[in-house]
Amino acid sequence: MELTKQQQRLVHESFARAMELYNPWNTRFYDHFFERAPHLRHLFRDDIAGQEMRFMTTLKVIVDNLGQGEGLKPRYVELGDEHALIGIKPADYELMEGALMDTLGDVLGAEFTPEVEAAWRLLYQGVAIKLQQRAPKG
Ligand code: HEM
Repeated sequence: MELTKQQQRLVHESFARAMELYNPWNTRFYDHFFERAPHLRHLFRDDIAGQEMRFMTTLKVIVDNLGQGEGLKPRYVELGDEHALIGIKPADYELMEGALMDTLGDVLGAEFTPEVEAAWRLLYQGVAIKLQQRAPKG
């Protein structure tokens, strides 16, 4: 499902605010992720701060491109193939969604309202679906 204009605005504003409140992001997001998914830690290299930077930079590009059409398609294909090759499963994407919500909740506090959270979940799920479309069938 697509985000409404209002939801796009909420995601833009809350992401800008989160960047203001917590920049650099260090390893907060992956700390939450590995709390939820300790069994997936071995898939990552040791430099989690570097990985967090790559993830957040990608998220920023996605947020900046909201409502701009298909410009990011090649990037989704590339990332989808990379994740499919590592063997990332739908359940893993769900765990990561939870970790992203934990992180935004920590950083934004009361500003992370149910409406903001709903917009972020929709954004994340849309991205996760695009990445999973590259997974091998069967
Ligand atoms: C929407 C969801 C996700 C996004 C936007 C995303 C984004 C990224 C990015 C940007 C990279 C770095 C790629 C590069 O620079 O070559 C990466 C690598 C990686 N991602 Fe994801 N990812 C997502 C979901 C997941 C999930 C659910 C897992 C589950 C474990 C995962 C596991 C990994 C692993 C293992 C790597 C390689 C890390 C390393 O080399 O140390 N990703 N991801």
